[in-house]
Amino acid sequence: MVFSYGRVLTAAFALMGTAAAVSTLEVDGKDFVNSNTKERFQIIGVDYQPGGESGFSAKKDPLSQPDACLRDATLMQQLGINTIRVYNIEPTLDHNECASIFDAAGIYMILDVNSPYSTGSLNRAKPWTSYNAGYYEQVFGVIEAFKAFDNVLGFFAGNEVINEDATYSAPAYVRAVVRDMKQYIKNNVDRTIPVGYSAADVRDILMDTATYFECTLSNSTESSADFFGLNSYSWCGDATYTSSGYNVLTEDFSNATLPVFFSEYGCNEVTPRTFSEVQALYGEDMTQAFSGGLVYEWTQEDNNYGLVNINSSSVVTTLVDFDNLKKQFNKLDMDRISTANSTQTSISAPECAADLITSSDFYNAWDLPAAPSKVSDYIKSGLPDAPTGSVVSVTSTSLSQTVYDYTGAQITGLTFKILSDDESAGPSGTNSSSSSTGTSTSTSNAAMINGAPLALGGISGFFMLLASLM
Ligand SMILES: *[C@@H]1O[C@H](CO)[C@@H](O)[C@H](O)[C@H]1NC(C)=O
Ligand SMILES: *[C@@H]1O[C@H](CO)[C@@H](O)[C@H](O)[C@H]1NC(C)=O
Ligand SMILES: *[C@@H]1O[C@H](CO)[C@@H](O)[C@H](O)[C@H]1NC(C)=O
Ligand SMILES: *[C@@H]1O[C@H](CO)[C@@H](O)[C@H](O)[C@H]1NC(C)=O
Ligand SMILES: *[C@@H]1O[C@H](CO)[C@@H](O)[C@H](O)[C@H]1NC(C)=O
Repeated sequence: MVFSYGRVLTAAFALMGTAAAVSTLEVDGKDFVNSNTKERFQIIGVDYQPGGESGFSAKKDPLSQPDACLRDATLMQQLGINTIRVYNIEPTLDHNECASIFDAAGIYMILDVNSPYSTGSLNRAKPWTSYNAGYYEQVFGVIEAFKAFDNVLGFFAGNEVINEDATYSAPAYVRAVVRDMKQYIKNNVDRTIPVGYSAADVRDILMDTATYFECTLSNSTESSADFFGLNSYSWCGDATYTSSGYNVLTEDFSNATLPVFFSEYGCNEVTPRTFSEVQALYGEDMTQAFSGGLVYEWTQEDNNYGLVNINSSSVVTTLVDFDNLKKQFNKLDMDRISTANSTQTSISAPECAADLITSSDFYNAWDLPAAPSKVSDYIKSGLPDAPTGSVVSVTSTSLSQTVYDYTGAQITGLTFKILSDDESAGPSGTNSSSSSTGTSTSTSNAAMINGAPLALGGISGFFMLLASLM
């Protein structure tokens, strides 16, 4: 690598005043924490899947459409979320504007590396047929497209792969994907990006699934998951902590050694949704086991889970569920929610052993398949010819769309708010404080280049820029 200070400095100064970036998050025991302030980070999020879940078309990759991203990020700031999850990513498209918009908004992204594409996911019935280099062009392609962005919270290696239709040894394949991704990141990305798994709420195998991914293997230390998502729809209408079974989940995950969160929630059997589960999810009991969750889902689709309706490319309507959810978020006590608890961060996972698995139907060996040789080459030297993303400056803050609320009244005066460095988004209610504002320390702004300290004036995107220059 030939390194030019002059080139880097010029580029760094060119960024000043335009690029704001969040602090990266890291995993500490069962908590996500802000790498800068060390505050606990709980996910207050929505699943972002405009266009719905069935089939695949490039049009459904929501992070490839900047006008829609600016519109949605602006409305998400109104709602008060800090994270989105995105499922349908086509790695060869340009995601730089959208990823930079969410970064500037203080909104983190959890990205599924699988896609509904023909070679874009593991075949749960015969995983050995899809565990190959073609599949990894999708998986590593997503990492390449997004590795430059500080607001990538993590990657999901799989979503609901392990279910009743999955073959017995499927867990070993998914854990191998976690391993391969973590090794890829270690060799080809200049920071650690957590990798996790998102499970269906199939209670019979839920805890075995979590155990299978979290336990440590001395012969494959990189294969354990960094976090665990759970898609849960058990709280409908006026349910309670007990009737929904949330109490059981809390008890079950009380000994988890990694961050656990709802990767989807928001039952719609009773409409409109009032989201009373929000107070339970972020309440004193559950936050000892869970790190928040993501409401399913941002846009109204055929399955009727939307918070907003996209009437057309120029008109959008916030639905009554949007208002109901916002009211719930605004009641949250953000100071409590962001307080780190050392009991939760000073824990470690057990060593994998067959007797940790309780169901005889669940795979209880960790003989992970070895990566095919072409995949090993990718892991070692990077996916060849993959487009690598980079941060761009976000200048536009006004919306071109007309926005109505659910009563039909037009919402005016909406502008996109570019947060200052290290600030993150969240609810704006009376009980919420933007506690991360102004807490950045001077050490966080001092970067080291080849051992030489360099004052950067808080440009968090700098390392990413650096990466893109090398
Ligand atoms: C959690 O760990 C404690 C202490 O080891 C144990 O008593 C309890 O049964 C465990 N709970 C679960 C749900 O495994
Ligand atoms: C910290 O976490 C532990 C274990 O989850 C819990 O028992 C304790 O009550 C928590 N403390 C606070 C102040 O929340
Ligand atoms: C937009 O969609 C909403 C929800 O379906 C509907 O109530 C509203 O009438 C539509 N508005 C326009 C301007 O089409
Ligand atoms: C703010 O939080 C406190 C403590 O959690 C709670 O007692 C109070 O009701 C909350 N206030 C509002 C307006 O929600
Ligand atoms: C690694 O250890 C696990 C657990 O003991 C075992 O199931 C697996 O076969 C071992 N893998 C290799 C490659 O030795």
